[in-house]
Amino acid sequence: MATKKHTVVGVEVLRQNGMDVDELVKTLVYNASVEFVAYYYFTNLRAFCTGMDGEGVKGVIEDARLEDLSHFESCIDRIYQLGGEFPRDIAGFCKQAGADFLQSDKKTTLKQILEKCLKAEQGAIVNWNKVCRMTHGKDPMTYELASHILAEEIEHESWFLELLDGRPSGHMRRRYSGERPHTSKHSRSMDGL
Ligand SMILES: [Fe+2]
Ligand SMILES: [Fe+2]
Repeated sequence: MATKKHTVVGVEVLRQNGMDVDELVKTLVYNASVEFVAYYYFTNLRAFCTGMDGEGVKGVIEDARLEDLSHFESCIDRIYQLGGEFPRDIAGFCKQAGADFLQSDKKTTLKQILEKCLKAEQGAIVNWNKVCRMTHGKDPMTYELASHILAEEIEHESWFLELLDGRPSGHMRRRYSGERPHTSKHSRSMDGL
């Protein structure tokens, strides 16, 4: 016999704040899929940075790649806390990210690689800005998470703009790849990796 489930106060207060929790979960799962897929595709993009010029770019892509993994990891707790879950089918999860433009192979030039990276970062800014707007004044936990991810995406965009256009970014290199200065506390499962 099914027993009556308890009220989830952590979700109810959000509804009282006017938050559309179902829409928020859908958006977070979508954003998580984009981060997951970007992490995968950046693995190839980094590998195809060959030759003398490629060597200088590799480290920047590696920093961005590991922070996308951090962004995926950062979403997990919040999705479950909100009552959501990840789709059963990983293929559908990856397809919904709509990131086929990030595919590359040995023939992809360094300039094309950087253009793809820039487009990915700019898409991520739009995605996380959307969550900030949805949650502002209604869901402080998700707002904090989204604004921390957004801060890293803005840094990533500026790195690739610097490489492509010579637009100074004030880029201080990460002390180590995977440092994730804004999201490390949301992705503690990566500590010590
Ligand atoms: Fe990201
Ligand atoms: Fe990024």
